[in-house]
Amino acid sequence: MPADIIVGLQWGDEGKGKIVDLLSEKVDYVVRYHGGNNAGHTIVLKDKKFSFHLVPSGIFHKKVCAVIANGVVIDPEVLLQEIAVLENEKVDLTKKLIISPRCHLVLPYHKALDEAYEKARGCNSLGTTKRGIGPAYADKACYNGIRIYELMNWNLFSEKFTFQASIKNKILQTLDVQPVNINEELEKYKVYREKIKPFVKDTYKVLQKAITKGKNILLEGAHGIMLDNDWSPYPYSTASNTVIGSVNTGSGIPVKSIRNVTGVVKAFTSKVGSGPLPTEITDSLADTIREKGAEYGTTTGRPRRIGWLDLEAVKFSCQINNVNHLAITKLDILSGLEKIYVCTGYRLEKQKITYSECGYTELSQVTPVYSAFPGWKESICEIRKYKDLPKKCKNYLQFIASFLDVKIKIISVGAERNANILR
Ligand code: GDP
Ligand code: IMO
Ligand code: MG
Repeated sequence: MPADIIVGLQWGDEGKGKIVDLLSEKVDYVVRYHGGNNAGHTIVLKDKKFSFHLVPSGIFHKKVCAVIANGVVIDPEVLLQEIAVLENEKVDLTKKLIISPRCHLVLPYHKALDEAYEKARGCNSLGTTKRGIGPAYADKACYNGIRIYELMNWNLFSEKFTFQASIKNKILQTLDVQPVNINEELEKYKVYREKIKPFVKDTYKVLQKAITKGKNILLEGAHGIMLDNDWSPYPYSTASNTVIGSVNTGSGIPVKSIRNVTGVVKAFTSKVGSGPLPTEITDSLADTIREKGAEYGTTTGRPRRIGWLDLEAVKFSCQINNVNHLAITKLDILSGLEKIYVCTGYRLEKQKITYSECGYTELSQVTPVYSAFPGWKESICEIRKYKDLPKKCKNYLQFIASFLDVKIKIISVGAERNANILR
C-alpha cells in the first residue's frame, strides 16, 4: 500500500509545499490530483524561493517523477512558465513530468468569467484568486469543458474552443467585461500545444504500474479542508474537493492503496478571501504575526487574514481524512508572544455547536471557546531536536496532539528544507 497523502487541514497555505518537498526524498512519484493554479506552494532551497502552482513540489528531487493527474485543471500559460523556471534551473524534465490528457483546461474565458462574477457580486464578492478555477470546474461538470485531450487533437480543440468562447463572450458582454479574441487565442494555443505535447501521457497507467511494483507515491493536496467544495462554509469555498476522497477520482489511485495521511497544520490560522473565520484576530497582533510570518498570498500577493489555531475545525479535518500523522508548521512565528490561544470548540447562543453543523451564517456568529497557553520567548529557528524546544512550546504541541489524538511527526521551524524537528 504505497500511497501517502499530504493534505492541508485549515484554509490553505499551511506549508504543504515545504512538507511535500521534505518528504519527497525517497519517493518515486509526486502527484497533484485536484485544484489548479489557485494553489501556490512554496519551497525554499539554499535561500532560493520557488512557488509552484501546478507542478508538484517534489520535482527537485532526482528520483521523483512529477505527475499532474486528471483531477487538476490546467492553465497552459502558467504551466509553461513553471516549466521554463525548472529548465532554467537545469532540471531535465524529460520523463520527469507527466500530464494526464484528461486534465481540463482553464481557458481565457474562464479567467474573464471569474473576474466578471466577482465584479457582479459587488460587496458580496468571495475573494477568489480570479484564476478561472470555478468557471473551469463548472464547465467540466456540465460537459462544456475542453481537455488536454482535445488540445492534442487540434481540429477538435479549435472547433470546441470557438463554440464555447462565442457563448462565453455573450455572457461577458452582458456582464460588461471585455470578450476574448478567439483568433488571437487560437494562435497562442497552437504554440502551447506543441510545448505541452511531450509531457502528455496516460497517468492512470503509469500510477497503476507504480502501485503494482510497490513504488512510493506521494499525493500533494492543494488548498485546505476548510475550502472543500462540500465541506467548507459554501460558497466560501474553492471549486474542487480538497478532502482525500478526491485522490481516487482525481488520480485513479484506489482508496485501498492509501497508507499514511499527513495533515499539515499551521501553528496559527490564516485565510485569504472572504467568509467566516471564527478565530480571526482583529487587533494589531494580526499585523505583527502577518509581518513576522510573511503571510501574503503565494498566488495573488494579498495579505492573509490571521487567527488563532482553530482545533474545532482541525479536528473535523482530521476525522474526515483519517489523518494519522501531523506536520505542524510555522511554530517559529509564535516565539515571543506573551500568550497563545487555541480554540477548542464553538458556542452559538450559549449552546455548543460543532463545525459540521455550521453553515456560513452560523460559522460567522459562533463564539470560539479558548484555552490560553503561556508563550515562550526564545527563538526556535535553529532547534532540530524535540528535547531542545522550550518547555512552554512543548506544552503547546502536546495539547494539540492530545486534543486531536494524532501524533506530531514533523515540526517545521523555518521555510528552508532542513528547518525541521523530525519525530
Ligand atoms: P502551501 O500553499 O500550503 O504550500 O503554503 P504557502 O507556500 O502558500 O505558504 C507557506 C509559507 O510559509 C511559504 O512562504 C513557506 O516558505 C513558509 N513556511 C513554510 N513552513 C514554514 C515554517 O515552519 N516557518 C516559517 N517561518 N515559514 C514557513
Ligand atoms: P494553496 O494550495 C489559500 C481560496 C481563495 C478564495 C477561495 C476561492 O496554496 O493552499 P478560487 O480561486 O479557488 O475560486 O478561490 O479559495 N483559495 C486558497 N486560499 N490557499 C490556496 O491554495 C487557495 N486556493 C483557493 O483565496 O478565498
Ligand atoms: Mg499556498
